[in-house]
Amino acid sequence: MKKYLVCALAALTMTSMMVVGCGGGDKKAADKPAEKVLRVATEPSFAPFEFQKKGTNEITGFDIDLIKAVGTKAGYKVQIMNMGFDALIPALGTGNIDVAASGMTITDERKKAVSFTDPYYTSGLIVLVDKNNTTIKSIKDLEGKRIACQIGTTGEKKSRSVKGAKVTAFNTNVEATMELKNKGVDAVINDAPVVGYFLAQGGNEYAKTVGEVMEAEQYGFAVKKDSKLVGELNKAMAEVKKSGDYDKIYKTWFGEVKK
Ligand code: ARG
Repeated sequence: MKKYLVCALAALTMTSMMVVGCGGGDKKAADKPAEKVLRVATEPSFAPFEFQKKGTNEITGFDIDLIKAVGTKAGYKVQIMNMGFDALIPALGTGNIDVAASGMTITDERKKAVSFTDPYYTSGLIVLVDKNNTTIKSIKDLEGKRIACQIGTTGEKKSRSVKGAKVTAFNTNVEATMELKNKGVDAVINDAPVVGYFLAQGGNEYAKTVGEVMEAEQYGFAVKKDSKLVGELNKAMAEVKKSGDYDKIYKTWFGEVKK
């Protein structure tokens, strides 16, 4: 007798829960469709493109403002997360993230694994050395020298192409420049705008660039290979450029309007 009562009660409770659950859900769905979330990952040791605001976990920068503007324009709620640079492409492959917004250079090699949006920024690599170094004048003088770079970057690839160089690839750019400061390496190879920002923010107390910016590199947002997101983001990016929002964001981070 008691057993039946418990069962009946349980059944009743479940039914009412289902009714409430369905009713509530339906109503909500009719009022407001579920928000589409764009999961964006970045490696934030790359100011002014992406970095953590001093004393906080909040990630900010040019790439972040731009992908927020583009993602919002495409109808998404943009979510930013922190990830190792060499983990970004694998994470796109497994579908753990939707976009890598990380100053990522569009290369043929990467295009085999992911798809890129239209380019949004032109960059290039440069060599950083100790301020008092007089022997290294360009990348040609790095043969047999110790070079620091960030793991998985075009800077690492360039470093490894230098004959006889002893290359150390760090998880972050901050560690790579720290190693130069500690005289653990003779040079760092990294993207010129990031090096420029670093010098202007006080890095020039111990470091300087040598030689010219190497061949041009284009940054693009990366998505899962052949994802339809490419088209959506390109369309939204074109609108963000047309509306003047791109220029506004550019001015915020680079202090001038792009020519
Ligand atoms: N542009 C270089 C590359 O694609 C470096 C990018 C590093 N980005 C970063 N957020 N740490 O390899």
